[in-house]
Amino acid sequence: QGDVFTFDPGFTSTASCESAITYIDGDKGELLYRGYPIEELAEKSHYLEVCYLLLYGELPTRTQMEDFERRVTRHTMLHEQIHYFFRGFRRDSHPMATMVGVVGAMSAFYHDSLDINDPWQREVAALRMIAKLPTIAAMAYKYSLGQPFVYPRNDLDYAANFLHMCFSVPAEKYEVDPILAHAMDLIFTLHADHEQNASTSTVRLAGSSGANPFACVAAGIACLWGPAHGGANQACLEMLRQIGSVDRIPEYIARAKDKNDPFRLMGFGHRVYKNFDPRAKVMKQAADDVLGLLGIKDNPTLQVAKELERIALEDPYFVEKKLYPNVDFYSGIILEAMGFPTSMFTPIFALSRTVGWISQWKEMLGDENQKIGRPRQLYVGKPRRAYVEVENR
Ligand code: SDX
Repeated sequence: QGDVFTFDPGFTSTASCESAITYIDGDKGELLYRGYPIEELAEKSHYLEVCYLLLYGELPTRTQMEDFERRVTRHTMLHEQIHYFFRGFRRDSHPMATMVGVVGAMSAFYHDSLDINDPWQREVAALRMIAKLPTIAAMAYKYSLGQPFVYPRNDLDYAANFLHMCFSVPAEKYEVDPILAHAMDLIFTLHADHEQNASTSTVRLAGSSGANPFACVAAGIACLWGPAHGGANQACLEMLRQIGSVDRIPEYIARAKDKNDPFRLMGFGHRVYKNFDPRAKVMKQAADDVLGLLGIKDNPTLQVAKELERIALEDPYFVEKKLYPNVDFYSGIILEAMGFPTSMFTPIFALSRTVGWISQWKEMLGDENQKIGRPRQLYVGKPRRAYVEVENR
């Protein structure tokens, strides 16, 4: 499925690494976290339990879950000095730019005291990352609004705490809507890990050199930002808004098929899924449920998305190219309904994916045979040739 990597003369594999964390079958549309189908985890589990599963390989007992939740919760605050990093950014900076900068800066606060050769310290770094990313994402959002940062609350669960940090203001009482908290938790779970996607491979490659985990995750956030990857959720909702009504869909379908037009249907297509993205199916149902519960089922963006999907799935071009909605197609509709601006969509993807990045980083460093990554190239340049003096050129 992936590119062919030639690691050593004579040894050619289509695999770039071994991992026991996530399995994808692109033809069957199957996604398993440590062997558990994403559909079952979405229905029966919750994000922090999925974090435990991805990190440790098994579903936790009640006691293990309580201990894990306590250990994560106590790390949700940031060192007060880190607040100053935000102030160096313009207020209108994209929150992804702020997150790359602040997460990278965490190296300056936690790296020196971190020996990544010690499994216990690797685990503490992983817990710190899972705990602090929502706080950083919420602070990036608040900073963009010019509102005061809101501290985490340890009496709220992971998703509710994130919504609290994003939407509450000191001047008035804020109660987290359980409908939104459940939808938020589901979105976190659906984005938690996804095998060797571009940003996870970035984190692994950076980690293979021995770089500290905060710098590795900052590199993953930077990679995820691209519109071909995690940035697609923002680009998709902006595309749906631009289409605006179902009667304009044919115009955009034609553009997506026009080789001379760089326009692509954002939220459509995938490097691996060539049948359907199981996350998109769950997300589509969630969009229906959440908008129904919020009394906005006739949301024009949702109507355009559903009609666009219906038309595209019947169009021979998309069928032949095996293009189907991916995880980014419906997620933005739910996030918009929750009150987030499109600029916060990819930061939410990044904080959800942090557990996948850091679990794979931890797995890789736990392998004593692990070597520094070194993807090879196929050289297609000039053959060896002699230097030419400038007067002879
Ligand atoms: C994510 O890898 C992961 O797991 C990523 C991810 C994760 O969880 O980490 O799943 C998250 O990144 C999902 C993908 C989000 N990106 C988008 O929605 C952006 C729009 N989609 C594309 O740009 C594209 O589909 C990719 C990048 C996602 C996949 O690209 P591929 O598989 O390399 O496909 P391709 O670019 O080789 O395209 C194959 C053909 C091409 O036509 P031909 O050159 O064969 O004539 O399909 C066409 C493309 O032009 N095509 C599209 C299209 N996607 C591919 N045409 C119109 N609209 C699209 N969206």
